[in-house]
Amino acid sequence: MLVATEHTGRRINMSESKKRIVSGMRPTGKLHIGHYMGVLRNWLSFQDEYDCYFFIADWHALTTKYDQTKDLKQNILDVALDWIASGIDPERSTIYLQSLVPETAELHILLSMITPQNWVERDPTLKDMVKILRGNLDESEKDQDISGIVSYGLLGYPVLMSADIMTFNASVVPVGQDQLAHLEFTRDVVRRFNHIYKTEYFNEPMPKLTQTPLLKGIDGQKMGKSFNNDIKISDSEEETAKKIMRAITDRSRIKRTDPGHPDECEVVCPYFEIFADEETVKTQRKNCEEAIWGCADCKKQLAVIMNDYFRDVRTKRKELEQNLDYVHSVIRGGSEKARETSIKILKDIKEIMQLY
Ligand code: TRP
Repeated sequence: MLVATEHTGRRINMSESKKRIVSGMRPTGKLHIGHYMGVLRNWLSFQDEYDCYFFIADWHALTTKYDQTKDLKQNILDVALDWIASGIDPERSTIYLQSLVPETAELHILLSMITPQNWVERDPTLKDMVKILRGNLDESEKDQDISGIVSYGLLGYPVLMSADIMTFNASVVPVGQDQLAHLEFTRDVVRRFNHIYKTEYFNEPMPKLTQTPLLKGIDGQKMGKSFNNDIKISDSEEETAKKIMRAITDRSRIKRTDPGHPDECEVVCPYFEIFADEETVKTQRKNCEEAIWGCADCKKQLAVIMNDYFRDVRTKRKELEQNLDYVHSVIRGGSEKARETSIKILKDIKEIMQLY
């Protein structure tokens, strides 16, 4: 957006006066309501205050699933659909696909030269990633030397993540707790680059932690696609109601006539707190404690409330599904727009490094 400044009449680019945010998600398929409540709502709130770059991290998906590319295109599309339907606005934020911004790869190579080998080997999340990979192994292979399974690319995961952030010289990065170590890594790489090339070019990106507690899955465990306990943003109202009917409640309430304990209820009561208004929560707690409602009654009511909550997003997603050309144009157009920035930054970096 170009605006004239009051005093000089000089036109400045407003987005350049805002702090820049970069954040990404791996394309694992349709997103669940935990992503919506925990991540997307956060992103929505940044769209006016920050210059936002949100990207689909398809190269990151390859670090562990390089042999499972069959669904990758569809997964990318599903993530884009969920984002746009949720209100990530292509007019205000730059939505792009990592692999359509090749400057990221170029910077990744340059950063890989200055990153000490033992930094990547110490990455604490590498162990978890290896566990994911090990999940694909059968029992007899469990004790085998994993160095043959961890690819060079997976080892370089935090370097690639640093490149994602530094290609746009972001100063703020919204992430979950699990990504803090990676961000600390990025800050180390920034400091090392600035030190080696005697510059202050790169910002040390600050994490912006998600405040909302993560939603539990309907079984009371961490919500995740692979645990088969999630509710998708794109689920129908019937699917949502069915899943809620399966949700865990208060395990000590055996009979319908037993009084319930809202604070010990594992999923249904906490969901009420998140999705219902105060008045409704009060009524529901009372009806539970006095056994006026059974758990099935609570669940029916909850399904109605949740379907109301997600109705607009779901309607928008359905519309977008009928207009995939538009969604592809957002991905391609956003990536083009992202490159206007990344090309400039790469040019600066090469100058600082005195490359040819
Ligand atoms: N590693 C992040 C995750 O798994 C995704 C990601 C990749 C990311 N690059 C990023 C997040 C850069 C923020 C900034 O959730």
